[in-house]
Amino acid sequence: MSETPIDAIMRIMDAAFDPQWGEAWTRPQIESALQLANTLPTLVAATGTRAAVPGEAVGFAIVRAAPGEEEILLIAVDPRERRKGLGRSLIAILATDARRRGADKLFLEMRENNPARSLYEAVGFRQIGRRKDYYSLGDGARMDAITFGLDLDKS
Ligand SMILES: CC(C)(COP(=O)(O)OP(=O)(O)OC[C@H]1O[C@@H](n2cnc3c(N)ncnc32)[C@H](O)[C@@H]1OP(=O)(O)O)[C@@H](O)C(=O)NCCC(=O)NCCS
Repeated sequence: MSETPIDAIMRIMDAAFDPQWGEAWTRPQIESALQLANTLPTLVAATGTRAAVPGEAVGFAIVRAAPGEEEILLIAVDPRERRKGLGRSLIAILATDARRRGADKLFLEMRENNPARSLYEAVGFRQIGRRKDYYSLGDGARMDAITFGLDLDKS
């Protein structure tokens, strides 16, 4: 049977997130998030364009759209397809979609030590906040969250 969008998201999620950080969402969490009209998935193919069918997807993002601003809740690329510009392509697609819906700001939050920071800074995100001890790492340790913002009218 061919994959559904949620199948594709879970396939990439399971491969992409290191369990030690507890960042991956479960299938029920994804299913209930995507029932909300303002929570939107994007699937990207290895070509860097939107996946024509879910089975073609090697990366995904989930965005929450609010009037005037959007937030990237999750973004991931299959480890075998990294450092080929797909994360950058995904963010470009998200920015285009957000602008089309009338947003002028894109936000995201990441754990302080996530190497994804280099990607976000490379595409123009700037740190706008820090949430102390926001993430709990399972072994009792805590880690700060960094909030990034991107001005869509300037990018
Ligand atoms: C973050 C992630 C989506 C990046 O995807 P990607 O397709 O590898 O990103 P790109 O190839 O578009 O990277 C573009 C640029 O960002 C920077 N970059 C991306 N990943 C990087 C890393 N791990 N370390 C350092 N720089 C990185 C580089 O400048 C890179 O350009 P270069 O390869 O020419 O040097 C991917 O690493 C991932 O799925 N990580 C696990 C899930 C995760 O942590 N998501 C973020 C949660 S906030």
